[in-house]
Amino acid sequence: MNRTDQCDDENRAADRVADAFRQLFGGSPDGVWAAPGRVNLIGEHTDYNDGFALPMALPQSTLLAARSRADGRLRLHSAQGDGRITELAVAALAPGTVPGWAGYPAGVVWALAEAGHPVGGADLHFDSTVPTGAGLSSSAALECAVAVAYDELYGLCLPGPALARIAQRAENAFVGVPCGIMDQMASVCCTAGTALHLDARSPERHRHVPFDLRGQGLRLLVIDTRVSHDLGDGAYAALRAGCERAAALLGLPALRDLPEGELARALDALPAELAPLVRHVVTENARVGEAVSRLREGNAAALGPILTEGHASLRDDYRVSCPETDLAVTAALDAGALGARMTGGGFGGSVIALVRAGQESAVGGAVTAAFAAAGHRPPHILATTPSAGARRLEPESRQQPPQL
Ligand code: GLA
Repeated sequence: MNRTDQCDDENRAADRVADAFRQLFGGSPDGVWAAPGRVNLIGEHTDYNDGFALPMALPQSTLLAARSRADGRLRLHSAQGDGRITELAVAALAPGTVPGWAGYPAGVVWALAEAGHPVGGADLHFDSTVPTGAGLSSSAALECAVAVAYDELYGLCLPGPALARIAQRAENAFVGVPCGIMDQMASVCCTAGTALHLDARSPERHRHVPFDLRGQGLRLLVIDTRVSHDLGDGAYAALRAGCERAAALLGLPALRDLPEGELARALDALPAELAPLVRHVVTENARVGEAVSRLREGNAAALGPILTEGHASLRDDYRVSCPETDLAVTAALDAGALGARMTGGGFGGSVIALVRAGQESAVGGAVTAAFAAAGHRPPHILATTPSAGARRLEPESRQQPPQL
């Protein structure tokens, strides 16, 4: 699809969401915003260790038609929900009080107010194409759509990383998931055709690294294993706590501060259960640096072995893969993929596979066949491209006809 087709599609989607808004709430929205899901190319479980990551935005987004309200009420509706409108009072929002999906958008409004921003109510209608439970950051897309919409509706003019921090705060403190900042930074700050080189200690200093898949005859497959991952189940929090304990034992502010050259000595000094976590984080940070160098040299194919090494580290040291993600990686590599790894938090979710153009069906078919042979549900597989971060869309009905 070329850029014009993509814009037309987006504008039509914006029209549909604006129409649904009118039917639900009466009258037009003040605007329509979009915030994407993401895949992470490399740099997993590094963000909460103040480390590095390299995510890119997906074309799949959460669309939000929004209108501010003067009475402090927050009304929320999702095309993927149960049809009901959730109605809340902004002044009464408090952590842990809004169950289900509505906690994410409500949490962002709460986090903005908590940070002292002058925000009030709104009518919000969401419609998302980001699959949920697939490890593709559907929650971050939901949060970041609200963050960018509120930024404009309430004239806050906050920079992208500040909006990402607000969204992360919502998830950490309001919803109660102790995630890092990678997903929110990817959703807000990515640009089309690039990957985001993130330093989680200084998100403001992120860089866009050209990732020209098509120009280099490559494709990136996203393989959703359909094993639902859930960051709220305590395993993620336990890993994060393990990393923090290891850093404290080593006398470091965070594991990011352990140089690769000192890894062997540190591993000897740590309890057996913490050493593999530290080895993963330190080697993973190095893999991000390596991947960025290869991309900057214009050699995206060289990412392949780096992805595969990253998977081995997540499987053997960090232990967040599962039989389905391991099988997807092995089957993709056996069928000729240049590299493959699980992406996101793990415990299910999705795998990415870097393939040469023309290999998509062979690799996709091999993974599907391997899943069938193992008795797993068929995976969902699609080719993806590095896409734009959160932005305002223009419904077609709002656009001016071209001047003749
Ligand atoms: C989830 C979290 C992120 C990050 C990844 C693992 O996606 O939301 O902050 O920690 O897991 O890299």
